[in-house]
Amino acid sequence: MKIDLEKAKNILSEKFSFNADFLYSTVEKLKLKKNVRILDIGTGYGVMSIILALQGYKVTTGEPEGHNWAKWRESAKKLSVEDLITFKFFRAEDLPFEDKSFDAVFCYTSFHHIDDKKSALREFIRVIKEKGLIIIFEFNSAGVEVVRQRRPSHPDAVDPEVFSQNLPLSLEIEKGKFVNAFIFMRN
Ligand SMILES: C[S@@+](CC[C@H](N)C(=O)[O-])C[C@H]1O[C@@H](n2cnc3c(N)ncnc32)[C@H](O)[C@@H]1O
Repeated sequence: MKIDLEKAKNILSEKFSFNADFLYSTVEKLKLKKNVRILDIGTGYGVMSIILALQGYKVTTGEPEGHNWAKWRESAKKLSVEDLITFKFFRAEDLPFEDKSFDAVFCYTSFHHIDDKKSALREFIRVIKEKGLIIIFEFNSAGVEVVRQRRPSHPDAVDPEVFSQNLPLSLEIEKGKFVNAFIFMRN
């Protein structure tokens, strides 16, 4: 059974629907081949992995052991996409993957939670192939405001470009309503 985005939004909660259209269209615009290897950093609610899986991509995703952020697998099961998603515990700063093993790394509202952002970005570069992509979605000020209504202590968003200085990356930015997409290409 293939589920389209509108049905998925009806089945899952507001946490999924919140930025689903922007995430989905940003992935579509990248025109990645269907057999690419994709890594998703910071599984959380599984939103990013599910958006990718809904478009037919296989995804490896993970977060540090002990985080147990959310029951992402239940959401993936509801949409019959769990078989496309492989979970592994890892820290973004020390990824358990070989050099140049992925075509794209996605990171949806996880970057501001990572302690050592510069090391994480270096790791993302290490594990992607030449001309590979790193797509970091970070909240803009409207997004931080909405999230703080639920969780007043939510950390500030960060500007990934600040951490990319002197790294072999070029950058394009797509602006969304609540998050912006920082699309880095490995030079
Ligand atoms: C708000 S959630 C991200 C939402 C998620 N990307 C989604 O699509 O539903 C933040 C995530 O960052 C993860 N995280 C925090 N520190 C991390 C680190 N050092 N390495 C990898 N993930 C980390 C947390 O475990 C959590 O899964």
